[in-house]
Amino acid sequence: PEKVMHKLVSLAKRRGFIFPSSEIYEGLSSCFDYGPLGSEMKKNIKDLWWNAMTRRHQNIVGIDASIMMNPRVWEASGHVASFNDPMIDDKATKRRYRADHLIENHIEKLRRDGKDDTALKVQTAYEQASTAADLNRALYDIIIAEGIKAQDTGSGEWTEVRQFNLMFQCGMGALADKASIVYLRPETAQGIFVNFHNVRESSRMKVPFGIAQIGKAFRNEIVKGNFIFRMVEFEQMEMQYFVKPGTQAEAFEAWREERFNWYTSALGINRDKLHWYKHDKLAHYADLAYDIKFEFPFGIEEIEGIHSRTDFDLKQHQEYSGKNMEYIDQLTNERYIPYVVETSAGCDRLFLALLSDAYSEDVVDGEPRISLRFSPKVAPVKAAVLPLLKKGEMAEKAARIADDLRQLYMIQQDDAGSIGKRYRRQDEIGTPFCLTIDHETLENDTLTIRHRDTASQERISASSIREFLAAGMV
Ligand code: GAP
Repeated sequence: PEKVMHKLVSLAKRRGFIFPSSEIYEGLSSCFDYGPLGSEMKKNIKDLWWNAMTRRHQNIVGIDASIMMNPRVWEASGHVASFNDPMIDDKATKRRYRADHLIENHIEKLRRDGKDDTALKVQTAYEQASTAADLNRALYDIIIAEGIKAQDTGSGEWTEVRQFNLMFQCGMGALADKASIVYLRPETAQGIFVNFHNVRESSRMKVPFGIAQIGKAFRNEIVKGNFIFRMVEFEQMEMQYFVKPGTQAEAFEAWREERFNWYTSALGINRDKLHWYKHDKLAHYADLAYDIKFEFPFGIEEIEGIHSRTDFDLKQHQEYSGKNMEYIDQLTNERYIPYVVETSAGCDRLFLALLSDAYSEDVVDGEPRISLRFSPKVAPVKAAVLPLLKKGEMAEKAARIADDLRQLYMIQQDDAGSIGKRYRRQDEIGTPFCLTIDHETLENDTLTIRHRDTASQERISASSIREFLAAGMV
């Protein structure tokens, strides 16, 4: 698995998908930059999500809220008090670990060693810890009782478990005192909740309706790693669906199904690599939660959460802001605070899932090749126009065809090196179609289409390329 990740990271950098952030200064932990192909592909992913959520649903509209919000928002949402990770430090090495991960690993180890009774005892104590303080005590007790050794020293010398808030703080304005603290949002959802009435009124929305948003979120993750899987700055694609209380279970099921299907039908992700996971331990706002997980090279991990958030957020905002958050049903005159079903996907994680799902090594014409088998909708470059000769009529024809197609798609025109080399270059960035302009093109206005995955070729009339590509993008 490490080898696969290494190959993905290196391909991503070599071909301009993803670079380490501020690399000439040795980078910054868990921060990455999307390069020319990466930003194009990320935009495709976001457009596909946006269209699937807003255009396809008459009752879902989009917004783009600001990253910084009135700090009271995060008091109301519960993030100031409970958006914490329990951390524990190894005193000798001064390294910091997530206490819950340590415990989970330890439970697994006990099971492997056949100590099922102890494993159960530890697990029960762990699961019963519900408040932050509980968790703190339980984790610490378990660590002491079970004598988990500090990783590198074997000394077993740990600090107490402490809660670290994941929100980044900034000082707004000239005075960076306590009163001017603002947070970088740790989720985009709150920008939607606080705009509930603005959107409802301005767009004349009636429950059930949804609000969708794509944007950056920030979390001061202590445990980082796995490339773009866990970042401190990342992008979320979230939708909050407001329903009448009592109807949330039905909406939850419908969204669970729709979201899962999106990954296979819209993005072409291999069904066998997708998994459901039901949460036993719930976030402070949820009463039911499922994750869609993907089989990454390093393990099966979450890419999207589907949460039944009840009326928690709107109720909290009503209490903290003093503004009425009720909805009035025009037909029945009923008043209620809507329940919310949320779908929350991570754009960067999905990017990594697509990259690892698409990565393929095979042999074509006796030579090994690397290809990215993206769905044409996801691929950053849709087609490459390759004239057999660099100059003259062939090159001019190629330029005309490329210019025409550029009105609709991201196109590359490449005349450097042998045609075989050019195919390989396109395979490696996942371009689904190569269009070759040769002598015959000049004679009868046909060109060769070469398919990425099969390396098979067919000849079609130049005038039907637009149609051909349109059919290929479905
Ligand atoms: N509003 C609900 C919410 O934020 P979450 O499960 O904490 O729920 C939703 O996050 C999604 O955001 C995750 O499924 C994941 O894809 C993405 N995400 C969360 N933390 C991330 C991080 N540190 N780096 C990259 N993506 C992250």
